[in-house]
Amino acid sequence: MVLKIRTYGDKVLREKSTDVEEINEEILKLLDDMIDTMKHAEGVGLAAPQVGVNKNIFVLGIGDGKYRKVINPKFLEYSKEIAENDEGCLSIPGIYKKVCRPAFVKVEYINEKGEKVVEETEGLLARAFQHEYDHLQGELFVDKISPVAKRLVSSKLKKLKADTEKGMDV
Ligand code: CO
Repeated sequence: MVLKIRTYGDKVLREKSTDVEEINEEILKLLDDMIDTMKHAEGVGLAAPQVGVNKNIFVLGIGDGKYRKVINPKFLEYSKEIAENDEGCLSIPGIYKKVCRPAFVKVEYINEKGEKVVEETEGLLARAFQHEYDHLQGELFVDKISPVAKRLVSSKLKKLKADTEKGMDV
C-alpha cells in the first residue's frame, strides 16, 4: 500500500524516532508499505518519519536490485575521508544540493527477519544510509548544505513549508 509522504514543514520530520522493540505484524506491514511508497515515488530511500511514524526504521532500494529493510540502525565507524555529492529527498521535492559526508561507513542494523546485519558501505549506499539515519534524528539534508546553497533554496523551502501547513499535496 502506498502511503502519503510527509513534506517539509511537517513537524513529524523534526521529531527524534525511537527503537523498535519487537518486529511484529504491524512493523512488517509498515516495511512493505514503505517499500511500495518508495518505489511509487521513484526514490532510493525512505525513512519511517516520512510516512508519519517516529520509529527507527528505513528502507533503501539502491543498485543491485536489492531492497534493504533497516531496523534500529547505528554506525560503528565513519571514515575520515569526506565525499561531496548531490542529494535530494522525497519530503523536499524539487531541491537537489551538494552535501559533504563521510565516504565510508560501517553500519549495524536488524533486518525484517530479526537478524543482526553489519555492512561496510561506500559511495551512494553509504550516503543513503547516512541520509536516512538523519531522518530518524529529525534532521534533513537541507540542514547540512552550504550557507550559499541555503540562501538559494530559502524561498523554495518557505513555499514548501507553507503548502505543507495548508495541507496541500506538493
Ligand atoms: Co530524505
